[in-house]
Amino acid sequence: MPSRFPNDFLWGAATSAYQIEGSPLADGAGPSNWHRFTHTPGHVTDGSTGDVACDHYRRWGGDVTLMAELGLQAYRFSIAWARVLPEGRGQVNAKGLDFYSRLVDALLTRGIRPNVTLYHWDLPAALADRGGWLNPDVADWFADYARVVYAALGDRVPMWATLNEPWVVMDAGHLNGGHAPGHRDWFEAPRVAHNLLRAHAEAVRAYRAEAHGRLGQIGIVVNLEPKYAASDREADQAATRRADAYMNRQFLDPLFLGGYPEELREIYGEAWPEPPDAELHALREPLDFVGINYYTRSVTCDDPRARPVRAGRVRQPRHAHTEMDWEVYPQALTDVLTWVTRRYGRVPLYVTENGAAFYDPPSADGGAVDDPLRVAYYRDHLRAARRAIEAGVDLRGYFAWSLLDNFEWGYGYSKRFGIVHVDFTTQQRTPKASARFYAEVIRSNGANL
Ligand code: BGC
Repeated sequence: MPSRFPNDFLWGAATSAYQIEGSPLADGAGPSNWHRFTHTPGHVTDGSTGDVACDHYRRWGGDVTLMAELGLQAYRFSIAWARVLPEGRGQVNAKGLDFYSRLVDALLTRGIRPNVTLYHWDLPAALADRGGWLNPDVADWFADYARVVYAALGDRVPMWATLNEPWVVMDAGHLNGGHAPGHRDWFEAPRVAHNLLRAHAEAVRAYRAEAHGRLGQIGIVVNLEPKYAASDREADQAATRRADAYMNRQFLDPLFLGGYPEELREIYGEAWPEPPDAELHALREPLDFVGINYYTRSVTCDDPRARPVRAGRVRQPRHAHTEMDWEVYPQALTDVLTWVTRRYGRVPLYVTENGAAFYDPPSADGGAVDDPLRVAYYRDHLRAARRAIEAGVDLRGYFAWSLLDNFEWGYGYSKRFGIVHVDFTTQQRTPKASARFYAEVIRSNGANL
């Protein structure tokens, strides 16, 4: 097998609407659940909000120029549902759609392929008031919203993802409470997961019913975190299976195999809703690709206190950790890509997010930002991605997370994931050494790795 990336491998970078845009209520947009969440004291560690973020809503033109300078071939971004439909449904806000339409045109002019995610966690507040992802009608609301966006952008956007990381929406939003809407409810979590999948499948069907839907590709983006048992003890092995079912199989099994993993019944007990067969059947809508977000792995042990999954993480003190305290473990990227291929078949895959938060010393003179740890992270993970291709995985592209330092959800601006440094006082953008490194990866199609 040749040790190189395919010639048509797609190199990109990713962001999401609430994390970079700012101006959340501009031009007739409605508030989102994240707007409310950040405007409620106590939810974000540094007390910040997405009100300004990277001011991308106003600086998008310069940001597209920056992408072109780095040689990006693709740009993954998300659409703020409440800009398009301020009430979440019904009346369309043309100005909100125009923003994305201009962005798409500017990308295409620069030869950068737009890769649009319909939902990256910012739900219109008006829908949150109706129960949000708990309300079974959300599948229709989402499909209606998707149709509005397909009609406006479908002629120019070749690549779509329905949802970004439904697991986080469910786990952080409804089980652990760290994300909007901040609930901690075992009975909600599996219902939310199921409604997310129903919404996803409806939006895929809606896309395929469109004229453009026969030309472009549609998929879903999931975050996967391989689980490795801490020991041979049966208790640790069982905990690892539970953790794996909960995080890695909960969303892909229904989409590809037609049912939820058995372990979920054990995890949730009486909170498990037992979805009807007809609904399960409808989730199995063929996908053009799966996007995988990979950051870290977990060495897993039995931990009866960590309910409901009863699985704990064993920190690996000999390995490097990022500012998120996530272990740096590139081999797990190879492992997870080959695992998906083995379990679900040789479906086309993209790494839709991969990257690291490290402390970046502020550049005193606005000059270079040296980030050797991030450079090493990218180098080692890209090599791991290449090993997966050598092992037979149909990996079609890679997106760095993130183009810009941005609003890192519950951590506010305290964690920097960008390959481009953002000074949040002046909004000055400075490509870091990792951006230069990545630009060379793209230019040489990975020959420098
Ligand atoms: C999310 C991003 C987030 C990143 C780093 C992913 O889970 O899709 O929005 O910034 O991880 O935490």
